[in-house]
Amino acid sequence: MNIAKPFLLMATILLVSSCNSVQKHTDATVSLKNAYKDNFYIGAALDTNQIKETDTMVASLIAKEFNSITPENCMKSMFLHPEKDKFDFKMADKFIALGEKHNMFIHGHTLIWHSQLAPWFTQIKDSVTMSAALNNHITTIVKNYKGRIDSWDVVNEALNEDGTLRKTVFLDTYGKDYLTLAFKLAAKADPKVDLYYNDYNLCNAKKRKGAVALVKNLQKNGAKIDGVGEQGHWNLITPSLDEIEQTILDFSALGVKVSFTELDISVLPNPWDVVGADVNQKSEASEKMNPYPKSLPDSIQTQLAERYEAIFKLFLKHQDKIDRITLWGVNDGQSWLNDWPIKGRSNYPLLFDREFKAKKAYNNIMNLKEIKR
Ligand code: XIL
Repeated sequence: MNIAKPFLLMATILLVSSCNSVQKHTDATVSLKNAYKDNFYIGAALDTNQIKETDTMVASLIAKEFNSITPENCMKSMFLHPEKDKFDFKMADKFIALGEKHNMFIHGHTLIWHSQLAPWFTQIKDSVTMSAALNNHITTIVKNYKGRIDSWDVVNEALNEDGTLRKTVFLDTYGKDYLTLAFKLAAKADPKVDLYYNDYNLCNAKKRKGAVALVKNLQKNGAKIDGVGEQGHWNLITPSLDEIEQTILDFSALGVKVSFTELDISVLPNPWDVVGADVNQKSEASEKMNPYPKSLPDSIQTQLAERYEAIFKLFLKHQDKIDRITLWGVNDGQSWLNDWPIKGRSNYPLLFDREFKAKKAYNNIMNLKEIKR
C-alpha cells in the first residue's frame, strides 16, 4: 500500500499534466487546414462582415481553420465594376489584405458570369463593343491584383444542363469564342495566376461532356486553362460518389487541376421535386419545405456527417488531382441556402453551426485524418 500510494499520486500528476499539454496542443494547432495540409487547401467563402472582421471570434475561427478564401460576392462584376467607367475595389482590397495577413491561398470569384452582372454589360449589342468591354474588365481587374491573387474563376457557369453553351449577353454579342478571349486576356494580364473554368452540376453526364469539350476547345485555341472548379452544391443523396469520382477523373485527364470550389450539402427538400400545381397545397407545402426551423434532428446531423465523411474520403483518394476544397461559407447561419431556392428556410449545409461550433460533420472529417478535436 505504501508503494502504491506515491505511484498513484505520480500517475495522477502525469495524467493531469499530459491532458493539459494535449489540451493546449489541441487549441493551437488542431484545425481543418492543418489536418489536410499535405492533401489540399481548405477554403471558405467570406461575406462582407467576415472580410471586415466585424466579429473577432469569427475572424479568429476563419484564420485558425482555413488556409484559402474566396469572396462570396464582392468580386462579382456588379460590385467590382458597377459602371462602365467605374471600378470599386474597396471591399475586394480588404479581402485580399485579409488573405495576405494570414498567408492564405487567395481565389478570385468571378470575372465573367451572367448572374450578378453589372447592368451596363447587359446593354452591349455588338461584338466590337463586347470585345472592348471584356478587355477593359478583365485586364483592369486581373492587373490590379497581379501577383496577389493565386487563382481566378475566369468564366463561371457558361453551360446549360445539356452541355451546350448558355445563352448570355457574352455569347449573343461575341459568339462562342468569348471564352477563349476571356482566358487569353486573363493570362496576358497576369501570366502566373491559375485560371479556372467554374460550374455547378458537373456530375450530370451531359453537362460534364460539355465542360470537357469547353476545356479542350480552350486548349486547342491556345488559351491557358489551369483548372476546373466544381461548385459542389450537393445534398444528402445526390450526386453519388461514383458520379463525383467520374468528374475528378474526366477533368484531371485533361491535364488540369480539379478543385471543389463552393461545397455545401443541403439537408432540405428540393422544391422542384414538387409535382402538380394545387394552390391549396401552399401552406402545407411551405412547412414541408422547411422541416427543421429550430434545430437539426440528431439523425439528420449524423446523416450529414456521414455524407461529408464519404465525400472527403473520396477527395483523399484523389488528392493528387485535387488542389483545393472550399466551403461556400463558414457557418450555417451565413449560408445562401437559407434563402435559395426558397427564402427564409433554416438549412444546415456547412461544418460549423449557427453558434460557430464545430458540427459532427467537422469531427468526422477530422477523424478521417485521425485528429481529435
Ligand atoms: C451566391 C451568394 O452566396 C449569395 O450571397 C448571392 O446572393 C448569390 O450568389 N454559384 C456561384 C456563387 O458561383 O457565386 C453563388 O453565390 C452561388 C452559386
